Amino acid sequence: MYLSRFLSIHALWVTVSSVMQPYPLVWGHYDVCKTQIYTEEGKVWDYMACQPESTDMTKYLKVKLDPPDITCGDPPETFCAMGNPYMCNNECDASTPELAHPPELMFDFEGRHPSTFWQSATWKDYPKPLQVNITLSWSKTIELTDNIVITFESGRPDQMILEKSLDYGRTWQPYQYYATDCLDAFHMDPKSVKDLSQHTVLEIICTEEYSTGYMTNSKIIHFEIKDRFAFFAGPWLRNMASLYGQLDTTKKLRDFFTVTDLRIRLLRPAVGEIFVDELHLARYFYAISDIKVHGRCKCNLHATVCVYDNSKLTCECEHNTTGPDCGKCKKNYQGRPWSPGSYLPIPKGTANTCIPSISSIGNPPKFNRIWPNISSLEVSNPKQANVCDNELLHCQNGGTCYNNVRCLCPAAYTGILCEKLRCEEAGSCGSDSGQGAPPPGSPALLLLTAMLGTASPLLV
Ligand SMILES: *[C@@H]1O[C@H](CO)[C@@H](O)[C@H](O)[C@H]1NC(C)=O
Ligand SMILES: *[C@@H]1O[C@H](CO)[C@@H](O)[C@H](O)[C@H]1NC(C)=O
Ligand SMILES: *[C@@H]1O[C@H](CO)[C@@H](O)[C@H](O)[C@H]1NC(C)=O
Repeated sequence: MYLSRFLSIHALWVTVSSVMQPYPLVWGHYDVCKTQIYTEEGKVWDYMACQPESTDMTKYLKVKLDPPDITCGDPPETFCAMGNPYMCNNECDASTPELAHPPELMFDFEGRHPSTFWQSATWKDYPKPLQVNITLSWSKTIELTDNIVITFESGRPDQMILEKSLDYGRTWQPYQYYATDCLDAFHMDPKSVKDLSQHTVLEIICTEEYSTGYMTNSKIIHFEIKDRFAFFAGPWLRNMASLYGQLDTTKKLRDFFTVTDLRIRLLRPAVGEIFVDELHLARYFYAISDIKVHGRCKCNLHATVCVYDNSKLTCECEHNTTGPDCGKCKKNYQGRPWSPGSYLPIPKGTANTCIPSISSIGNPPKFNRIWPNISSLEVSNPKQANVCDNELLHCQNGGTCYNNVRCLCPAAYTGILCEKLRCEEAGSCGSDSGQGAPPPGSPALLLLTAMLGTASPLLV
């Protein structure tokens, strides 16, 4: 029969074209949202999951301090070296640029000597606690991809909480507690990330690793993203496939690494000794020279570009999605419920593109029959946002379903489910419209046969 012969040629040709398609050899970049592939219909777009590159996110944040007047230098104030109460010849003066320590200096270029840093007022009101909240806001959901690293120029604080928000600062959850004595400060047993496992990776821990007094050399506090990734991807993050597979299927895990805001709650400065030296309170303060936050805009695997415009980050959405995170379908592309792209299957993932709405395809009687089943399928199984399958979403007019993402249509038909006559779309249907299929031996078929002849050696 003509049609079946046609379809087998068709299927073979698709195999050939995907063999010849230069997909990246290493997987997992997700750096393109679409490529052109060649089918018998000519060039068509092939859509895939995609995400922006990971980058230094501190360039895009807003910082807010609480209390607002906690930065040193207004009025000017002298402070002492942490380790030596008699070395008090340092001055902080907000009105003199060389002596000022504004918050921006936490995010400026590092590598200068001496390093530039933000500094708080000293603990002159002791025993009233010296506490500061530093809130970093992106006004955009971002996915963390590397450790958060905070470098203190004073000693590392005796007590600190790192918090995160996923709703632009309305609600906050602790991310990690830091203390010289976790039990005393937070009634928590001290732990380190190395004590965690795949099953406890989301546990919020208190760590003493980063809080020993000023005598130890290190100035750095980490929030370990990579160690947590390593529970899934192995020690050198070689098996990112496994991590991405987990992120795909476990929303909680994905959300764990997702933030809109971070808050560093400094609760007690480094004291370095058991008791606070009340005679030299100018030794106690907070000073931070650097904060590192690496991540990417969350675009739900529907964009590779995230633009910073008007001090705002926005995904440049593809796949006919829209919204700051590509979190919904564009107008007229609501033919099925929105869903995020998927990292699976490797290496290209699944784009889960938005498809035209019923009304914008026309031909309503026909589609009343087909489309209602799409949404019921989606609701029961939201992970698999199929365009077509062999159960409910049949390709029409002899089209075949390719990987559940696209109908491959006979030459005369087009549309998502091959529901439309090509000539109809072009407005050039003759009197025999409704037949659709080209007569055997038509140029299209001859061309295909010719291509098949040249391509077949590749298959053996
Ligand atoms: C920091 O934020 C917490 C949580 O909202 C709040 O309870 C605390 O009073 C704030 N601290 C300062 C110094 O503003
Ligand atoms: C999105 O819609 C445009 C037309 O507005 C179309 O050309 C394009 O192919 C569509 N992309 C996807 C991924 O469906
Ligand atoms: C939906 O699919 C079922 C088969 O599962 C079919 O019997 C039914 O007619 C379809 N509904 C519509 C509105 O097409």
